[in-house]
Amino acid sequence: MNRLNLFPDSTSIDNNSLSIAGCNLEDLASQFGTPLYLYDQVTLDNSVLGYQSALKKYYPAQSSLSYAGKAFLCLAIAEWTQQHGLWLDCSGLGEIAIAVKAKVPKSHLVVHGVNKSKGDIEAACLQAGVIVVDNLSELQHLGELSKTHDIPDLWLRLQPGLLIDTHVYTQTGQAGSKFGMDKTQISRAAQYCAENDLPLKGLHFHLGSQIHDPAPFIPAIELVLDLAAGIEFGDGWILSSGGGLGLAYHEDDLPQPDLTEHIQLIANTVLQGCSERDIPLPHLNLEPGRSIVGRAGVALYRVGALKRIADRVWALVDGGLADNPRPALYGARYSALPVREPERQNEEPIWFGGPFCESGDVLIEDLPFPEVREGDLVAIPVSGAYQLSMSSNYNGARRPATLWLENGQAQVIQERESTENLSSRDRRLVKLDGTG
Ligand code: LLP
Repeated sequence: MNRLNLFPDSTSIDNNSLSIAGCNLEDLASQFGTPLYLYDQVTLDNSVLGYQSALKKYYPAQSSLSYAGKAFLCLAIAEWTQQHGLWLDCSGLGEIAIAVKAKVPKSHLVVHGVNKSKGDIEAACLQAGVIVVDNLSELQHLGELSKTHDIPDLWLRLQPGLLIDTHVYTQTGQAGSKFGMDKTQISRAAQYCAENDLPLKGLHFHLGSQIHDPAPFIPAIELVLDLAAGIEFGDGWILSSGGGLGLAYHEDDLPQPDLTEHIQLIANTVLQGCSERDIPLPHLNLEPGRSIVGRAGVALYRVGALKRIADRVWALVDGGLADNPRPALYGARYSALPVREPERQNEEPIWFGGPFCESGDVLIEDLPFPEVREGDLVAIPVSGAYQLSMSSNYNGARRPATLWLENGQAQVIQERESTENLSSRDRRLVKLDGTG
C-alpha cells in the first residue's frame, strides 16, 4: 500500500506540501501550533455512508448504526453523529453529558459500561434510550430502581467465549473476560427481566477491536440466535454485534478489511440463522468506532531536535505518549509523511520520539523516511481513534488543539489545553491550625 493512501480521503499534495480538505498543513501548524489533531469531514461522512449503504443493501429488516464514542468524542463529533442519524454509544455519565449537551436525542443514546456506577445508571435512566446490561448485579440494581424510575430499553451483553486475533488488550469476547455474561447468566437475566417486568429488548456482544478476520462473528451470532429463540421479547428485538472492524495503520499492514463483505457476512448469518430457527428477524445494530473515525484523523507534530546516536537517527517531536499512548500500550505501529515535499524518496530510517520522560515515548520506530530537518512538520495518519480519547497530562502535557476540516475551512473543535487548565481542579493546601 502507498503511504499516502493511509491518509484521509480529501488529502492532496498542493505546491509540494500536504493538504487535507483543501487546507495546507504548514498553514494550519503556523496558525494553530503543534501538536495538532485534524479531522477530515469527507472521510467521516464516507465511512458512515459506507456502513449505512451496506446495511441497507444486505439487511432487509430494520437496522441502525451506532458510533462508539470511546474512540473519540467531543461536542462537535456528537453533533456530527446526528447529521447522519447515528446512535451514540456512551460509556458512562461523562460521555452521556457530552451527548446531552450536543442534543443527541434520548432514543439515540445507548449506555455501555462494565461496572457502571450508580451515577452512570441514574444518568442513563434519565437521558438514554438503551442500557446495555453487563452483569447480573447491575440488572438487580435496575430491578430495584424500576420501582421508582422509568427504565430504558435493556440489552443484555453476551460473553460469547470466542477469541479473536488481535492484541490481547483489545480482546473482549473470550471466556473469562471481564465483559458480559455467559449463556447461563443471559438466560437467568432474561428470566429476571420477565419476572420484574423490565423492558428487555435486545442482545449484544462485542468481540474486540482491530479485527481483520470477521469469521468469529458467525459463531457469535449463532449463539445469540440460540439464546434469542428461548426469550420472549414481545414486539420485535434488537441484535447488536458491537464494533471491531480493523484498520491499516502502516503501509505494510494487512489492508483494511472490506466493509461491504464484513456487513454482508453479518447480515447473511443473521438472515439464515433466523430462518433456520424460525424466529423473527431482529433490528440489526452495529457499533463501530475506530473504522468510522480512525482514518479521518491525522496528528501533526513539529520536529525539534535531531539526534544521531549509536546507529540511530532520532527525530524528536513535540507530542507522543501523552496524546497517543497506543504504541506504548499495544505496540501499535504507525507510519508518517513529511508535510514538506511528501513525495521525496526515503533516505534513512528515522525513530520518532516524543518529549516525555519515558523510554516508551516513541511514536514510530525505524521508519524509512526522506531527509528530516529541525523545524519540519511530520504528519501521522490513522490518528483519529483512541488517541485523544486516551490522552493524558503526563509531564504537564497540554492536550492538543483539534480542528475540523471541511471545504477549505478549518475550525477549532477542541482548544489546546492551557497551563491554567492543568491546575484548574487543584486546591491549595490549608494549614490545619488556620494560619496562612
Ligand atoms: N462497542 C463496545 C461495547 C466496545 O467496547 C467498543 C470498543 C466498540 C463498540 C468499538 O470498537 P471499535 O469499532 O472501535 O473497534 N483502546 C483500544 C481499543 C479499545 C476498544 C474498546 N471498546 C485501541 O486503541 O486499540
